[in-house]
Amino acid sequence: MADTRVLTIALSKGRILEQTLPLLATAGLTLAEDAEKTRKLMVDGDYLGTPVRFLIIRAADVCTYVEQGAADMGIAGRDSLLEYRPRVYEPLDLEIGRCRMCVCGPKALVDAGVPERGSRIRVATKYDSLTSQYFLTQGVQAEIIHLYGSMELAPLVGMAERIVDLVETGSTLKANGLVEETTLFDISSRLIVNPASFATRRKQVGEIINGLREAVKTKGNG
Ligand code: PRP
Repeated sequence: MADTRVLTIALSKGRILEQTLPLLATAGLTLAEDAEKTRKLMVDGDYLGTPVRFLIIRAADVCTYVEQGAADMGIAGRDSLLEYRPRVYEPLDLEIGRCRMCVCGPKALVDAGVPERGSRIRVATKYDSLTSQYFLTQGVQAEIIHLYGSMELAPLVGMAERIVDLVETGSTLKANGLVEETTLFDISSRLIVNPASFATRRKQVGEIINGLREAVKTKGNG
């Protein structure tokens, strides 16, 4: 039976939103309000004459909304997808929000070399799982100090010897006397789709995927 609910798309708040909106517009998806200004969490929208709606939520929560089927589709960073491993399809790299996930630390510590096998260090991050896995492969005993943001502060106040965080321009690291040690992953934003929505709303979801694929190509050529 065809699903008649309004198609729901989850978008990440924050700096990615600025790059997301033009891509959506090129693909024919528009929001009825300025998503960067409104305090509303659910915003009406339009896809080529058909009503859709958008959820404006925290990046890490996009995976949950789409996995649970509360949103049919979403735009999530590869960092969240790697960390939380939601059961969703990932049909398209949107090639926005490009950055890298790195191990970083104070210059003096990084210059002294990577932590030795068997050593113990404290690592501040919001990527607990990826960080644990990485240091396990290095034979280093990492105590994970979970933070929700501004990880760069932790080494400055003596709370951690390393951080695992996203680096884009490197200016936040530089401003806080930190340097990159190791790149773990290249990151960009991905389109994700709930598997049941993919099956039951194949036509509309397929059209939007194709529209966004073309928008990514157009942007790449522009
Ligand atoms: C991100 C990231 C770094 C910073 C890197 O934080 O966590 O702190 O951007 O960018 P840069 O290399 O261009 O300086 P964001 O500002 O998104 O906020 P958060 O700390 O709350 O995650």
